[in-house]
Amino acid sequence: MGLPKGTPLADLPKENTLAPVENIYLQAQHLTKVFGSFRAVDGIDFTIGKGRCAALLGPNGAGKTTTLNMLCGLLSPTSGTIGLASQSDRDIRQHIGYMPQLPVFFNWMTGREFLYFAGRLFNLEKKELVSRTDELLKLMGIYEARNRRIGGYSGGMKQRLGFAQAMIHRPELLVLDEPVSALDPTGRREILELLRAMKKETTILFSTHVLHDAEDLCDDVLIMKAGKIVLSGPLDELRRAHRKPLIVVEAEVSLQEWAEGTRTLPFVTRVDSSGQTAAITVNDMTAAREYLLADLASKRLPITRFEAAYTTLENLFLEAIEA
Ligand SMILES: Nc1ncnc2c1ncn2[C@@H]1O[C@H](COP(=O)(O)OP(=O)(O)OP(=O)(O)O)[C@@H](O)[C@H]1O
Ligand SMILES: [Mg+2]
Repeated sequence: MGLPKGTPLADLPKENTLAPVENIYLQAQHLTKVFGSFRAVDGIDFTIGKGRCAALLGPNGAGKTTTLNMLCGLLSPTSGTIGLASQSDRDIRQHIGYMPQLPVFFNWMTGREFLYFAGRLFNLEKKELVSRTDELLKLMGIYEARNRRIGGYSGGMKQRLGFAQAMIHRPELLVLDEPVSALDPTGRREILELLRAMKKETTILFSTHVLHDAEDLCDDVLIMKAGKIVLSGPLDELRRAHRKPLIVVEAEVSLQEWAEGTRTLPFVTRVDSSGQTAAITVNDMTAAREYLLADLASKRLPITRFEAAYTTLENLFLEAIEA
């Protein structure tokens, strides 16, 4: 069972608390979704602060879409709760703009008709509806296609239309499930820029498995794996707290055998190698640099790069979802 409604915030689990208590906007408490006997979302707790932009990261099947669907009221939790902290008894759907992972449209409608339709569901007045629709069609770069049937739109155009639909009623929370997955690099950059601009006005929760998008844009990350949150926190804090010294080596030949051989060295904590590149995480940069350089030289390996660096969020992300 989830927590009873009205549980004081001070009694909530401390894990994954991404916001000070007074600033909590969205919260999940022991949120669980079971399909048959499969726990797609397995008792997760988290909070998101007002005005923050949070990324829900994780590999395929981690439970991201299931979590977002429960937030938006499209699925009911098996147990636990998810919702806006301050509005537990109100219908939260009017406060949320949601773009599903695979938006479904009426293909016989035009883009503009679809946005009118979406806006009417939120009781927008005619005048506001017309101006908001045109504004969003322009913002999304699909104004020229506004009178064409959606059935003839490309995947990227549909994603842009989905985005416009999510914003039609100026929601205070935007929930986007893989918002840039169907876009080409230019479209991707445009939408990410748009999200960056919208961050100033709304709280945003978006899912992605592209870490780079999250790194570019968000304040907080929640990393899910197999229904659980395996790592979470403000991005800059995570980056700082988990930063470890790393030696990156590249050569004209495969480094795999050499890299494997470093695993047992006392200062090596992790080895990633593929082909001609090796990334060796260490806990003592001075000792590691000295030893590894000498070792490479003594083995006469044709090195093209030897760099003393730090682990990135990518390393942390891979570690979290592999563990
Ligand atoms: N309606 C359903 N019935 C049965 N199992 C489901 C259902 N919906 C989701 N699942 C399972 O729950 C798990 C989580 O699915 P979910 O779609 O939430 O993952 P995801 O993190 O969004 O993955 P992706 O990155 O592929 O979109 C998956 O193993 C999926 O097969
Ligand atoms: Mg999904």
